[in-house]
Amino acid sequence: MSFYSINSVAFSYNKNALLNNISLSIDNNQHIGLMGPNGQGKTTLVKLMLGILRPQHGEIYLAGKNTKDISLSDVGKRVGFIFQNPDKQIFCPTVWEQMYFSHRNCEPGYRDEIEEKLMGYLEAFDLVKYKDKTPFTLSKGEKQRLALASVLSRNVEFLILDEPTIGLDMLRTAQLGKYLNKLREEGKGYFIISHDSSFLTKHVDKITNLGAKGVEFS
Ligand SMILES: Nc1ncnc2c1ncn2[C@@H]1O[C@H](COP(=O)(O)OP(=O)(O)O)[C@@H](O)[C@H]1O
Ligand SMILES: [Mg+2]
Repeated sequence: MSFYSINSVAFSYNKNALLNNISLSIDNNQHIGLMGPNGQGKTTLVKLMLGILRPQHGEIYLAGKNTKDISLSDVGKRVGFIFQNPDKQIFCPTVWEQMYFSHRNCEPGYRDEIEEKLMGYLEAFDLVKYKDKTPFTLSKGEKQRLALASVLSRNVEFLILDEPTIGLDMLRTAQLGKYLNKLREEGKGYFIISHDSSFLTKHVDKITNLGAKGVEFS
């Protein structure tokens, strides 16, 4: 059974068909890239995979369960994601609280260990200096790094990254690559949407293309 199984999905926001006949299977130890022209529906496909939108035809199964029968928070327990626009994921009054948010229910005995781990991610993404500051005044690139640091600190099985290198300089892109390698070593899968073919070539096993005919392997 695939972790994600997308079966003949169609979706449109209005009368114009956007996604049609989309089929793709991804295992939770696979690393797949997705490319495609702007406006082709890549971000829409991510929203469908996360259960934020519902397909009008076809089904999307996550670990064997139809995503229409899974709550958003249950999808979120298994799948980490970063949106193309980091503003949509940042809502806490300080950078530290944003990092801590998904760990807020941890057992008190693990708190020190978790704080140490979160500090490690803040260091890796050069965010320690903003720890007690509001995240809302960070630059787009800094917000992107915060969204990445936060999602990487969660122990999810699978990650979906929508244009993760936009707003990152070479150093931060390399840092992200290091964490992707770590996820690979841990046997975790990911799905990366990107226009950066050299980044994808380095970090995924297969590149797919979203075009008018659906998703095709290149
Ligand atoms: N909420 C929405 N309502 C109506 N149209 C939308 C909405 N979101 C995206 N679109 C349109 O759907 C098309 C695909 O968008 P998107 O999935 O963001 O593509 P991509 O990520 O491949 O650039 C675009 O033409 C976009 O304007
Ligand atoms: Mg997009």
